[in-house]
Amino acid sequence: MQRIFIKGIKGGIGSTSVVANLACALRKSNVDVIAIDLDAKSDLGLHFGLKWTTTKGWSNADSFEEALTHFYKDSDGVIFLPFGDKNANLNDIKTIVENCTKLDCKLGTWMLFDCPSHIDISELALETKDILIELVTCDAICHSLIYKRLQMLQNVESNWNHFFLVNRYNAASVLEFDIYSLWQSTLPFIAPFFINLDEVIKESTAHRNVALNCAPYSVANDDFETLAGWLVSKVAF
Ligand SMILES: Nc1ncnc2c1ncn2[C@@H]1O[C@H](COP(=O)(O)OP(=O)(O)OP(=O)(O)O)[C@@H](O)[C@H]1O
Ligand SMILES: [Mg+2]
Repeated sequence: MQRIFIKGIKGGIGSTSVVANLACALRKSNVDVIAIDLDAKSDLGLHFGLKWTTTKGWSNADSFEEALTHFYKDSDGVIFLPFGDKNANLNDIKTIVENCTKLDCKLGTWMLFDCPSHIDISELALETKDILIELVTCDAICHSLIYKRLQMLQNVESNWNHFFLVNRYNAASVLEFDIYSLWQSTLPFIAPFFINLDEVIKESTAHRNVALNCAPYSVANDDFETLAGWLVSKVAF
């Protein structure tokens, strides 16, 4: 099993959208995908066709056996587990991550975790094979947050694969171009491509769906195919 943890370096950067769109891009290449919502907003399911009136998820379950009844499968075959509407603390999140990891799934299954931006990822006991994608936008706030994160990484034993990925890249902005060029030439863990700012992502969410199904020829869908292909090649080598 390949575990991918996706979180924003701050809130609202696009982790839920990226998890949902990446999950479908991986499914298109016949990868088995399970997406787990670790964020109390419990909005990941909305990208997979779940109605907002469906509020229950793993946080409502008293045991993992009961949590299993909250898994869904979308029309593309992505299996996902909503967070639910009960309070959960860091220990509950750690436990659901551990239990999901023990699931008896097919060899080669990918598990994508939508992590809240405030979570301390080092608490989740990531392993060498795990990949953490930390989403950033090309602005001054993320610039300073990245350097704080790099300092923090020096002080914890981080043996997982950590990448910064730019989301909502605005190709028309000179500032964003400059910041991205600076990061590319100076940052150790920056992914070699970005996800463009594309209205298609918002529009497809409005259809409770993803770019692949709503606008297969969009820039957004191309970007998620690139991300999926890059991850598959990273895992293979
Ligand atoms: N590449 C993109 N282009 C355009 N809009 C985007 C892009 N990525 C995300 N968005 C939009 O940005 C908003 C926030 O996205 P999303 O909810 O995925 O972020 P998040 O990091 O999960 O937020 P939170 O920290 O609140 O959980 C949504 O309206 C989404 O449609
Ligand atoms: Mg989110």
